Amino acid sequence: PITEEQKSIIKSTAPILKENGKEIASIFYKRMFENHPELLDIFNQTNQKIGTQPLALANTIYFAAENIDNLEILMPQIKHITHKHRALTIQPEHYPIVGKYLLLAIKQFLGEKSTQDILDAWATAYNIIANIFIDLEKKLYDELGPTEEDKGFVPLIIVKKEVIAHESIVALTLERPEHGKMFNFHVGQYLTIRIKKDGNFHNRHYSLTRPFDGKIYSIAIKIENMNEIKGIVSNEIINNYNIGDTILASFPAGTFQLVGNGKHHLFIGGGVGITVLSSMIHELNNQGKSNDVILIHCVQSEDYAAFNNELKAILPQGHYQLFCKDQRLGKDTLNKILKSDTQVYICGSAPFMDKIESLLIEYGHPSSQIYVKAFQPTLSTTKD
Ligand code: HEM
Repeated sequence: PITEEQKSIIKSTAPILKENGKEIASIFYKRMFENHPELLDIFNQTNQKIGTQPLALANTIYFAAENIDNLEILMPQIKHITHKHRALTIQPEHYPIVGKYLLLAIKQFLGEKSTQDILDAWATAYNIIANIFIDLEKKLYDELGPTEEDKGFVPLIIVKKEVIAHESIVALTLERPEHGKMFNFHVGQYLTIRIKKDGNFHNRHYSLTRPFDGKIYSIAIKIENMNEIKGIVSNEIINNYNIGDTILASFPAGTFQLVGNGKHHLFIGGGVGITVLSSMIHELNNQGKSNDVILIHCVQSEDYAAFNNELKAILPQGHYQLFCKDQRLGKDTLNKILKSDTQVYICGSAPFMDKIESLLIEYGHPSSQIYVKAFQPTLSTTKD
């Protein structure tokens, strides 16, 4: 167990990590990948480059150490991370590797300031949280049944591929070969796709855009700027994968979901953020609740509005509202559509979500009824 003294050591050294996340990240990754090049197939190149990933890792350990007597309050974040780990097929034997290089990076970064007490405190905290993750992830793997193959990446065939908005978003329909077992999922979850390029695997998560029908998975992919590293998987699929081709995917994961007993639902999507909201809206419609759903979709211009025709078709008149570039979503609009019990789901770029969340809070809507679908690594920023 971790001692009070170790907790206070973690607390006093965590800010150093927070302020120097990028440098520590580069030490951590460089050394770890030199010694374990196989991990290059798991880690996302973008998040590594910008340093959010190790920062997220160190922050999680810090939060966990700080709340070690009451880890329940971190459960939502912990669950979210374990889902992502499971989707990426992280295994128990990976934990000692990450722990080792994280500690080495901390040691190297602290230089003369590093003492055995500091390193021991971080090692203890790391092991506690690692064991929690390993246990929870085992449960998630177990849910995928007894077949070993189903717990990793399996081949799926592209049965449909179509451009759905302004030549910038491509929808894919995927099926398991020979009608193999497809796992059920809840709306709000994502599918993790893996492709091989330049000798390594690259993974990316895509929201499922339709509720499960027992046979297929639907996702939508946005074309990214060719020069940006974040587009590796998306651009490769769009440019080089066609109907009939096979792609690798792990089975759906993720903790974002509809509020079970919610009465009124407001969805606010920015651009391609509509993908995840789309499946949730379809689900509520399937349950006969479309009268209680309102969607606000904010886009550059109407031709960027993916899924607009099908969503308009299932929602009552006036419940689908399109906001184009220069139209601002403001309090007057909220006045007309928000009820005190409305559950609000937001998905879009980080600045978009921040802006909308602030607007709602300022308006006085309870933060416990606002759900933000985060794309950045969880806990990569510390909220004071
Ligand atoms: C993602 C924490 C162990 C691989 C994450 C995220 C956090 C995190 C906070 C961000 C989740 C998000 O995207 O919202 C931790 C902690 C660990 C741990 C606290 C140990 C106690 C591991 C291990 C591996 C691993 C052992 C595998 C070698 C990854 C990968 C991602 C991830 C590949 C996705 C990052 C990306 O692709 O950008 N982890 N993790 N993690 N973790 Fe871990």
